[in-house]
Amino acid sequence: MTDNWINETWDKIKLKMRKTAERNQNTLPYTAVNGHYDNRYETDVSWWTNGFWPGLMWLMYSAEAGEVYKTAAESSEKLLDKAMENFNDLMHDVGFMWHISAGADYRLTGNKDSLRRVMHAANLLAGRYNINGRFIRAWNGDMYGWAIIDCMMNLPLLYFASRETGDNRFYDIAVSHADTTMKNHIRPDGSARHIINYDTHTGEVLEVMGGQGYDEHSSWSRGQAWALYGFALSYKHTGDKKYLDTAKRVAHYFISCICGDWLPRCDFRAPEEPVIYDSTAGACAACGLLEIADNVLENEKRVYYSAAVNILKSMDAKFCDWDPERDSILQYGTERYHGESGRHIPIIYGDYFFVEAIYRLKGFKPIFW
Ligand code: GLY
Repeated sequence: MTDNWINETWDKIKLKMRKTAERNQNTLPYTAVNGHYDNRYETDVSWWTNGFWPGLMWLMYSAEAGEVYKTAAESSEKLLDKAMENFNDLMHDVGFMWHISAGADYRLTGNKDSLRRVMHAANLLAGRYNINGRFIRAWNGDMYGWAIIDCMMNLPLLYFASRETGDNRFYDIAVSHADTTMKNHIRPDGSARHIINYDTHTGEVLEVMGGQGYDEHSSWSRGQAWALYGFALSYKHTGDKKYLDTAKRVAHYFISCICGDWLPRCDFRAPEEPVIYDSTAGACAACGLLEIADNVLENEKRVYYSAAVNILKSMDAKFCDWDPERDSILQYGTERYHGESGRHIPIIYGDYFFVEAIYRLKGFKPIFW
């Protein structure tokens, strides 16, 4: 049953992605309005999600080898050069921006320009490390001591840079940030805090903030997903069991919150009404669950694998638009809990993670993180 569903879903992805790639060369989409992607190259080239479209194209290329995917990925990667020039607008999300775009290009094709881009990004990320507080600062302006759970997904860029150059500084910064995050962001029950403001001289926790979730005591589901997949990836790159155990603890919490109808609410501790979904959290968590399933003993795998499949199947039934003439597969992404704008919309990383999850289920080996 599940094998049939995986094969059918992959076939639908192939059909839709080919048409979408043909329509969207040389662009940096974020969301779709009335079935048409926007282009952040024109409005916000430094936007943190701009690596996901080329990343998605490289995913498809590595599985299906179509030239249309390669040309879309390469042209978008070049558009991102303008963001590198706008240094002031770049934040910790240089990992999201370049690791799965230029980094994937380099790993798949050996392109030396891509290596230069991804190493530039790694140096920018390493430069944001606060030595006293042992964390990577997230944002700019006067938010000197702010670190956010999302950054766990930027660490693979640093692990890659260390491996590539033999320079352990990148690795050391990544594990130091992961350790600080594990200590302060992950609560004993496996839920994750979104934002922490540290004293930049002593590393003392000054304040915990709810950020994109309901409040500082709640659990923003995309933040849980960043933690789940992010710690699983830190385990992949370091082999340090404490990261796998942390990923599992977050996963158990995530599964307990979603196992009713397997559709991710935007915040697991928000009031029951209004019902606000965030499909991107489900898609990213599914990838993290599959990564955990790949790294646990045979008799543990089922817990993580079947939770991932349940989430993906529920979202396929309720949230997916399979019309090949319309851009974007996964609907019902939500940027943040509060405020009605950016609620229940298609978001590019929802598609990226949804496709990556099915790609994993098909048995392709991800080289992306
Ligand atoms: N990294 C920002 C977000 O998840 O919306």
